[in-house]
Amino acid sequence: MAHGLAVQWTVRLGHHLIFMRKTSLPSAMRKRLERAAAHVMKNAHAPYSNFHVGAAILLTNGKIFSGCNVENASYGMTNCAERTAIFSAVAQLGPKIEIRAVAVTNDQGVPCSPCGACRQVIYEFGPDATIFFQGAHGPKQAHITELLPEGFRLQ
Ligand code: THU
Repeated sequence: MAHGLAVQWTVRLGHHLIFMRKTSLPSAMRKRLERAAAHVMKNAHAPYSNFHVGAAILLTNGKIFSGCNVENASYGMTNCAERTAIFSAVAQLGPKIEIRAVAVTNDQGVPCSPCGACRQVIYEFGPDATIFFQGAHGPKQAHITELLPEGFRLQ
């Protein structure tokens, strides 16, 4: 695999064995992704929440796309940083992209994982994606299916 190693963890829960896939990304690539997220965060349009977010996605073809949150006076029209990055990649390359990893950053250094809507959008293009974000106890990494169990798909 070009950008990392897929490792399987076996977790015992009572009599059940649970197989969890844990995908690792070289730390240099993770840092590159985090730097891209921090850079684009400066373009956020967040006058209502004053919470600036940046996201960067790594595709399986090695390309990186980034996006920031874009708010609106009609609050519900807000687009999160993660979806901005994904929609930008689709607009540039078409829908046959596969997301390998996502990094999310914010300007307040507070915990911030992708919202529920963004998890579903990440899952659409990255059912095997790894997400890097600030957790409650520091930097965290999670597989998209940990963040979004039973993600929705149409056949
Ligand atoms: N936001 C993101 O862009 N990504 C996240 O992961 C969490 C929330 C934005 C949406 C809104 O502009 C602001 O943060 C406050 O919710």
